[in-house]
Amino acid sequence: MKPYRNAANDRPKRLGLPDLGLGVGLRHIHFNYILEHWPDIEWFEIISENFMDSQGWPRYVLDRIAERYPVVMHGVSLSIGSTDAINVDYLRRLKRLADAIQPAWISDHLCWTGVVGLNTHDLLPLPLTEQTLSHVAERIRVVQDVLERPLVLENPSTYVGFTCSTMPEWEFIRRMTEATGCGLLLDVNNVYVSSVNHDFDPLTYIHGIPIERVVQFHLAGHTHYGTHIIDTHDGPVVNQVWALYQAAYALAGGASTLLEWDAKIPAFADLHAEILKARHYTHRLPPFPAAPRESPLTTAPHTVQAVDESYLSVGTPLHVITPEVGVA
Ligand SMILES: [Fe+2]
Repeated sequence: MKPYRNAANDRPKRLGLPDLGLGVGLRHIHFNYILEHWPDIEWFEIISENFMDSQGWPRYVLDRIAERYPVVMHGVSLSIGSTDAINVDYLRRLKRLADAIQPAWISDHLCWTGVVGLNTHDLLPLPLTEQTLSHVAERIRVVQDVLERPLVLENPSTYVGFTCSTMPEWEFIRRMTEATGCGLLLDVNNVYVSSVNHDFDPLTYIHGIPIERVVQFHLAGHTHYGTHIIDTHDGPVVNQVWALYQAAYALAGGASTLLEWDAKIPAFADLHAEILKARHYTHRLPPFPAAPRESPLTTAPHTVQAVDESYLSVGTPLHVITPEVGVA
């Protein structure tokens, strides 16, 4: 057995939660590889629902992994915005898993997933109104009471909005955290996807949320269809998202970062290599000349983004950099 090493204890905490470094989502396809090789990755995020009711092979693997690596629980069925009553049975099962594996934190999405007991398994957008804000805030408080810890909520990628919305998503999130004390999981890819789909400046979003409450970043690939982007999680992170991550990471002063990859999942070594690219965006590097933006329907090869203070300014277009620095 390899002794587990993690530098989280040496990094500053956020909301009392550790900076775990660079991790990846735990997926079934990699179970055997992980048990055989114990890769030198800093942490794993699990989909809570995949393990809540399992006592078989998946749970055995999770228990072994949780003995060696920090684990974070990421849910997809809390439905914090639904008008259904809070599913107390779901929360109890979630808490039971948390008690067993002791995650660094528990997260889910700012969304609703269904009504009248139906789970659509989609992360659906909310009307961003005062009424929704009060409704969601009250439910977050209940969830936090049951789970006995701060809830961490992720910004969704969205494809439609509500004409009745009265505030932008970043304002809704800021007021939600003020009302509840919850933490934030900032999915930088989701911000980029929504910014294209709804035509807003992604840096305005980053500056609009309470960045000091971000305890985790998500990175992922997407598919650009020309008129819109779908959050497909089926490829490498594109350069515009790396650039946005660089700006958000600098503003936040660092936080745990995780790569999501849920379709066309590569070998674990390739997944690991993709998240390690993040190192190039969290340290100062020499500047490089700008290159063209991502083209629709393509995934640009990875290039390294230079640190540039101008990326911290609202209204600055995100651009990519030529590949002159190798990727570890
Ligand atoms: Fe995400």
